Amino acid sequence: MVRAMTILITGTAGFIGFHLARVLLARGERVVGFDSVNDYYDPTLKEARLAVLATEPGFVMVRGDLADHEAVLALADRFPAIDRIVHLAAQAGVRYAEVNPWAYIDANAMGQVAILELARRLKRLSHVLYASSSSVYGGNTKLPFSETDPVERPFSLYAATKRGAELTAASYAHLYGIPATGLRFFTVYGPWGRPDMAAFLFAKAIVEGRPITVYGEGKLKRDFTYVDDIVAGLLGCLDAGPAVAARPDLPGGPPHRVYNLGNHRSELLSRYIALIEQALGRQAVIDNKPTPRADVPETYADITRAREDFGFDPKTPIDVGIPRFVAWFRTWIGG
Ligand SMILES: NC(=O)c1ccc[n+]([C@@H]2O[C@H](COP(=O)([O-])OP(=O)(O)OC[C@H]3O[C@@H](n4cnc5c(N)ncnc54)[C@H](O)[C@@H]3O)[C@@H](O)[C@H]2O)c1
Repeated sequence: MVRAMTILITGTAGFIGFHLARVLLARGERVVGFDSVNDYYDPTLKEARLAVLATEPGFVMVRGDLADHEAVLALADRFPAIDRIVHLAAQAGVRYAEVNPWAYIDANAMGQVAILELARRLKRLSHVLYASSSSVYGGNTKLPFSETDPVERPFSLYAATKRGAELTAASYAHLYGIPATGLRFFTVYGPWGRPDMAAFLFAKAIVEGRPITVYGEGKLKRDFTYVDDIVAGLLGCLDAGPAVAARPDLPGGPPHRVYNLGNHRSELLSRYIALIEQALGRQAVIDNKPTPRADVPETYADITRAREDFGFDPKTPIDVGIPRFVAWFRTWIGG
């Protein structure tokens, strides 16, 4: 019998961490969750996600902050069986740094070091996966974005800390041989989604009859990726193992690699809004605003590398994903 994995997932109360934990538990793996359950957005939603996970026998939750290094390192003594880490906890959002820049350094920069130091202490550890972001491509104009493109023009502190986390992982791979894989997610949406992101913000304003704030006259373009496709990518990467193990053509280098996880379609924001309106059966009142400096004009993922290395194959166009999001949203605001 194949032994189940024991996976530490950070950011388990968050949008993507919740979905990943659910799928891993359903297939019989053991999951240790770690999250501060902070109030960057409504913690009621985070608690509701955790309440779903709490019904699963293979799930243990630890509440703690990444900035509390001792609490993170203590996980090695408490759960020595951890053999994989999926590090998703972070201060997300590109605009919030104007309000609280420190949160990005504590969670994304210091947090990455805390997780990699934990990795050094876990004797059975075989792979660290961590969330990076399409925002690392900043103002790049060559499309689609490829992992071999330069990433030296971050438009936001968030993007800078995500790029920093990649370089930190590369240094730990070089110094200590810790196999690590960075996944650059492209605008993730779906059921249980974040209240600070476009789909939720727009749906809520439309339902409440308030205007929606639209940047760049709806001409911004995003590679919108349905959450189930992201989870499938994470599972593919977990099952394939670290890149150097999966790729005999990459011997000798540090066991670190980054991958784009996107839908491989660049869509106009105006089309995304139209699909939300259609699913809600209500028209939005639009309040046009200039694009904030932290927002990039377009994102578009070249996913060849993830397809080749672990069979990444996103299947959900936004005309399928948005109605699913809206169906969940209706139950969430109704209940
Ligand atoms: N959702 C997207 O579109 C998207 C796109 C690119 C990258 N990402 C990255 O993917 C990861 C998951 O994103 P998400 O959308 O699920 O975000 P989320 O905000 O829903 O989840 C992040 C979780 O991390 C926790 N957290 C934050 N700071 C912490 C700290 N200091 N200590 C412990 N826990 C802390 C939060 O409480 C939250 O539950 C993040 O690293 C994010 O930057 C997300």
